[in-house]
Parts: sequence; C-alpha cells; structure tokens
Amino acid sequence: MRILLFLWLTLTAASSATALEPFELSTFCPPALRLDETGHCKLHSQYLAYDSLYGKGVGGPKTGLPPVRDGFTPQQIDLGRYLFFDPLLSQNGEVACSTCHDPALGLSDGKRLSIGVQGTEIARSAPSLWNVAFLQKLLWDGSKKSLEAQLQGPLYADNEMGNDPVTLLATLQSNAAYAAMFKAAFEEDSLTLDQVYTALVAFESSLISLNSRYDLYAHGVHDALNPQEKQGLNVFRSFVARCAECHTPPLFSNQQIAVLGVPERNGRPLDPGAGASSGDTSQRGGFKVPSLRNVALTAPYMHAGNFDSLREAAAFYTGGRGHAVPEGEDLRLHWHIWNPELTDDELDRLVDFLHTLTDQAFLPEIPNQLPSGLPPGRAARLAPEGKTALHRHSNNNTQSAAQTAAPLAAQLRAQPKALP
Ligand code: HEC
Ligand code: HEC
Repeated sequence: MRILLFLWLTLTAASSATALEPFELSTFCPPALRLDETGHCKLHSQYLAYDSLYGKGVGGPKTGLPPVRDGFTPQQIDLGRYLFFDPLLSQNGEVACSTCHDPALGLSDGKRLSIGVQGTEIARSAPSLWNVAFLQKLLWDGSKKSLEAQLQGPLYADNEMGNDPVTLLATLQSNAAYAAMFKAAFEEDSLTLDQVYTALVAFESSLISLNSRYDLYAHGVHDALNPQEKQGLNVFRSFVARCAECHTPPLFSNQQIAVLGVPERNGRPLDPGAGASSGDTSQRGGFKVPSLRNVALTAPYMHAGNFDSLREAAAFYTGGRGHAVPEGEDLRLHWHIWNPELTDDELDRLVDFLHTLTDQAFLPEIPNQLPSGLPPGRAARLAPEGKTALHRHSNNNTQSAAQTAAPLAAQLRAQPKALP
C-alpha cells in the first residue's frame, strides 16, 4: 500500500513537472505536408501528379487539385494549433475556434446553428474545416476571399468570439508563453495581429483529408470500394443525378455559387445567401457548393443545418425542382437542379458512396494544455434524443464538453495513420 502511494506521488509529481515545461513548438510538418529545403511545409499528395482539369468540367478520378495554401513553417502551424484551441482568443475566455470546429465532430459542431459567446444561435451552421486550404471562396455565401479575411469574422463578431483587435493583441502580448512562441515562430521583435492571423491560417491549411477509401480507388486500387459503393459513385457521377457536376472530384466542390432552393428551418425567412453579399440578385438563395469530404461526420446538413442525415440531404435533390422554394419567391434555380427521380435504392447507394469520403487519419492533436491555462474549446454535446435540445447558455459548456468529448477524441487519435 505504501509502495503504491509512493508510486502515485512520484507519478503525479512527474506529470506536474512536465506540465510546467515551456510550450515548445514542433519542428515537424503535420503528416499531409513535407518539409522543403527552405524549411517550409508543402503539400504532399498523389493528386499533385495529375493534371488539373479544374474549371473545365467534371474530369475523371485522376484529376488534379485546385491551388493550395501551403508554405508555412512547422512552428507557425503548431502555434496556430494552440491559438485555434484557446478560448483566450474570445471576449469571455469561453469560446475558441475549436468550440465550433471540433476535431471530434468532423471539425464542425454537430449543431444546426452554431452558438457563440452570447449563448445565442448564429444564422448558419458551422462547416467542416477539412481541406479549407483549397478554397478560393469562404463561408456558405462565398463572400470571403481568403482565410485571413474570414477568421476576423468570428474573432470580432459580437455573437461569435466577441473580441476586438486591441484587446486580443494586448491579451496575447501579456501572456509570457505566447510572447515566446510568437518570437520562435516569426523571429520578429514584436507580436502583431498579422502574425496571429498567419499562424491560424497556417494551422487551418494543414487540415488535409485526401486519403479516404475513395482516394485509394481513384489512385487505382479497385477493391477499395465495395460493389454498392461503386454503384453509388456511378449514380453520383451520372447525368441523371448530376451530383458531380457541382460536387466535382477530387475536392467534391467546384467552388461555384449555386441556387438550389434548400428549405429554411421552422418557417424562418429565406436566407438570401450570395444574393445579399454579392449584390447580384440572380444569386438570391445561392450558396457555395460545399466539399463533401468527411461529410458523413458533419450532420446536420446545408447552410441552415436542416437535414439530419445524408439520406435526407440526398433525397432533397429528388423532391422535384423548386419543391421547397417559399411561395412568392422567384429563385433562379441552377440548371442541374431538376427532377432526377432517383429510386430508394439509388439514394441508399449515394449514401454508401458518401461514406467512402471519410478520412480523418491526419486529425490534429488537441493540446493537453494551453498557454492560457484554459481548457481547450470543445463543442457542447447535444442530448442524444434530439438536435433541438440546444444549449442556450455557454457557461461551463467548454469544460463539460471537454470531459464528454475526451474519450472519443482519444479514440480518434488512436486510429492508425493512413499511408502518406
Ligand atoms: C461560434 C461558432 C464559431 C466559432 C467560434 C468559429 N467559427 Fe468558423 N464558422 C462558424 C460558422 C457558423 C461558419 C459559417 C458561417 C457562414 O457561412 O455564414 C463558419 C465558417 C468558417 C470557415 C469557412 C469554411 C468554408 O467552408 O467556407 C472557416 C475557414 C472558419 N469558420 C474558421 C474559423 C476560425 C479560424 C475560427 C477561430 C478564429 C472560427 N472559425 C471560429 C462558426 C464558428
Ligand atoms: C447545382 C449544383 C449542385 C448539384 C447538382 C448538387 N449539389 Fe449538393 N450542394 C450544392 C450546394 C450549393 C449545397 C449547399 C446548399 C445550401 O446549404 O443551401 C449543397 C449541399 C449538399 C450537401 C450538404 C453538405 C453539407 O456539408 O451540409 C450534400 C450531402 C449534398 N449537397 C449532396 C449532393 C448529392 C448527393 C447530389 C446529387 C444527387 C448533389 N448534392 C447535387 C450544390 C449542388
């Protein structure tokens, strides 16, 4: 008994000693990237060997990727990881980027609509951040043209993280650990907001998912998909269903705005989407074609989070052109939205296929500890019986979510890494 107590004491002493060690930044690139001779991390993917047909139709499975944001240093990426999970970046120290983009939930939050520092719902649902490095337009309405421009939205919006630039900068500058980490990552005299944005973008750009079973199939491993999944891929690519016209491989998005006439939830007024932000009235009700990578992990679906399952989302397309457009609205629906009359079997096969796009081998590690001493932001879990049981108050959500999500995250981290 005494020996056990002694052991316990030494073990706890050892772990609190490591806890006090300074935050050392990684010198390795995350697994999707490789260090080049200049010390920067560059994308490493079989897709780089293929020609790009981007913008020129659907292309086959061996089609190249759109341009990527890469070339950050391992230290900048790792610093961005700490910032991404740290609720210190929010006005009340309770909401981090990871509160709405949680690794345990496909880098989304499992909610219909996200909830920020005020505990109220945001107008749209949180998209996954997998492969944002390839996106030329960000947000559901495509209104932001760079990751740097996008992230200042949540940082400073009253209903998201509620901070302001002066406070954010002062908070980070007065944190000794962050001050040292920024110096290590940027080798400049003073800590600036541009460095904060760059580090966050460096981390986001490392969230690459291109090693799904579909990808193995695309690279020539025919048995990577079973017969049902192959049938699903054929429906997906068919000119009847037309999914691949907009959700073009390999990203499963052509990054265009399309008007679908997706219903809003509970009689909410129509979200004008790109029609409002671009000022182009023909885009009223238009949204960016989302990538479908890891889509099986990010229910509920669409900008309003109004479909609970992939089956429901797929069935929307066969409900008849414009079937959910509110009365009195005259939307310019995209010409690929029509009435494909897919059978139940075809819809099931589509869902089978969408599951083959799941690949979280390169899921980022959630820091055990943050320079702020706060628990990493995690999405609050919903009551299992329904998506409607939203947590209206964010008090303590981060902590309890961190506890409930921890075993799942550990499981996910324990998954074997896929081949690079
Ligand atoms: C309170 C929840 C919340 C927080 C906190 C939050 N986001 Fe988001 N994020 C969202 C929602 C909701 C959207 C979609 C908004 C829209 O399109 O109008 C979004 C969209 C995005 C997108 C666009 C993805 C795409 O496919 O277009 C990126 C990138 C992103 N967030 C990164 C971040 C980063 C980085 C942070 C931290 C600085 C952050 N988010 C904090 C909820 C959140
Ligand atoms: C005309 C272009 C177009 C076609 C064709 C198309 N989609 Fe989409 N898809 C979109 C757009 C745009 C959205 C987002 C709409 C919104 O949120 O209102 C979307 C959303 C989705 C989503 C939800 C993704 C998420 O993260 O919430 C799924 C799943 C999906 N589509 C599957 C399909 C399938 C399956 C087909 C074929 C039956 C298909 N799509 C055909 C443009 C298209």
